[in-house]
Amino acid sequence: MDIQFGELKLPKKGAVAVGVLEGAKLTASAGELDRLSGGAVTRALASGKFKGKKGQLAELIAPAGLAFSRIVMVGLGEARKLDAAAAEAAGGTLQAHLAGCGETEAAVLVDKIAGAKLSPDAAAAHLAYGALLRSYRFDKYRTKEKPEDKPSLKTLTLASAAAGRAKKAFEPLARIADGVFFTRDLVSEPANIIYPESLAAAGKTLAKLGVAVEVLDEKAMAKLGMGSLLGVGQGSARPSRLLVMQWKGAARGKDARPLAFVGKGVTFDTGGISLKPAANMEDMKWDMGGAGVVIGLMKALAGRKARVNAVGVAGLVENMPSGTAQRPGDIVKSMSGQTIEVINTDAEGRLVLADALWYTEERFKPRFMIDLATLTGAIIIALGHEHAGLFSNNDALARELARAGTAVGEALWRMPLGEEYDKALKSDAADMKNVGNRAAGSITAAQFLQRFVRDVPWAHLDIAGVTWSSKDKPTVPKGGTAFGVRLLERFVADYYESR
Ligand code: BES
Ligand code: MN
Ligand code: ZN
Repeated sequence: MDIQFGELKLPKKGAVAVGVLEGAKLTASAGELDRLSGGAVTRALASGKFKGKKGQLAELIAPAGLAFSRIVMVGLGEARKLDAAAAEAAGGTLQAHLAGCGETEAAVLVDKIAGAKLSPDAAAAHLAYGALLRSYRFDKYRTKEKPEDKPSLKTLTLASAAAGRAKKAFEPLARIADGVFFTRDLVSEPANIIYPESLAAAGKTLAKLGVAVEVLDEKAMAKLGMGSLLGVGQGSARPSRLLVMQWKGAARGKDARPLAFVGKGVTFDTGGISLKPAANMEDMKWDMGGAGVVIGLMKALAGRKARVNAVGVAGLVENMPSGTAQRPGDIVKSMSGQTIEVINTDAEGRLVLADALWYTEERFKPRFMIDLATLTGAIIIALGHEHAGLFSNNDALARELARAGTAVGEALWRMPLGEEYDKALKSDAADMKNVGNRAAGSITAAQFLQRFVRDVPWAHLDIAGVTWSSKDKPTVPKGGTAFGVRLLERFVADYYESR
């Protein structure tokens, strides 16, 4: 889908879309269309359920004599609540409708709205951004989809009084969308295509944006003592990798210590010898979601040339059962020197992150470390698919993350840490076990990770419930969500970028 910015005027063909405020209040352009159509817009508002509420949508076929073919009305909700997120949601809702109804071209008329938090140019940019985010499809393997079943919309024009400014405001948003789409692609690819080496190769493509990329192979990791990560990958025919990406965008001499993001990249999680049941095991292709987010985030930051130093580290392994796989009861030595008794080979994400976190803190001495992982099924039991779990040793960091999440519609819910939970990891044979009992499974997993963090502000996002969506949302089509890319991009922009 092509996105354009143009002057505020009616299109000569295709669909025309306008906003309507809560309480059936017409925007200026909706009013003009009402006059041109002999009152068809007000009649539609009077007779149906559409009253301009957020998320609502209605359409009319344009009456004879008008150049364009249909009029689409999107609900904007209350004017005083009309912010960037509301504009993005409206843009996404419009895109889905327009792509499904057969139109190939559409223009959205963006007016100045009294009392709104957004200028028309900002509103146009965020409407476009929402539409773009919703337009994502992973259809490269669908060779038999009928043309009429494919999205029809080819060009979406945002028409406003300040097209130049709208286009300029859209530019960095489009770069964030590049990062989101990259993550969604990586998460959607099956595990015969995305495995540790190919995922590392995907990371390497960021070099063209100025990201310094290194890939550590098994030999290099063995030399560093990463027995915990390597143990998880040893049952797979695909060798493990550690991906390290550095973006240096801070003004020289300013805030030189980087922000660090660490991702779980289990390209397929069978459970290993503690094998998972067959039902829904295919979902475990997206067990590299944390790594996918870290890669997409680095792409977004580099793409819009963020004024910050950031490092992204991803532990890439495939968890398979085989003659070479690690067994329950095996004891491995992590890079930190701490030994781990592997009671359950399906609690592998924490084993991967143990070494990735330790490596990141030791090498980069970051200002803080944030890890993302599809770590536990238990977080889905606790929070469902509406919030990701947030664990942190630092209240300020937790607050900033939660705020950024709320701002972009990727909600976090803080969960507790505490010594009481740590006891569950006690082992008679080694320094710790890799699992607790059934109780508080997400918290004991976070406690395990915390043992590999020394003295740096740290947050852990358990994204198992939000990495994949079974239903469409305004700016997120069902499938891989890239939850975390927009959140962390926003978090960096709001709190850490030098100006
Ligand atoms: N990758 C899974 C967690 C997961 C489950 C992610 C469902 C997304 C959807 C993780 O490696 C895992 O298997 N965790 C176990 C831990 C248990 C063995 C302590 C779990 O949650 O059952
Ligand atoms: Mn597992
Ligand atoms: Zn896993």
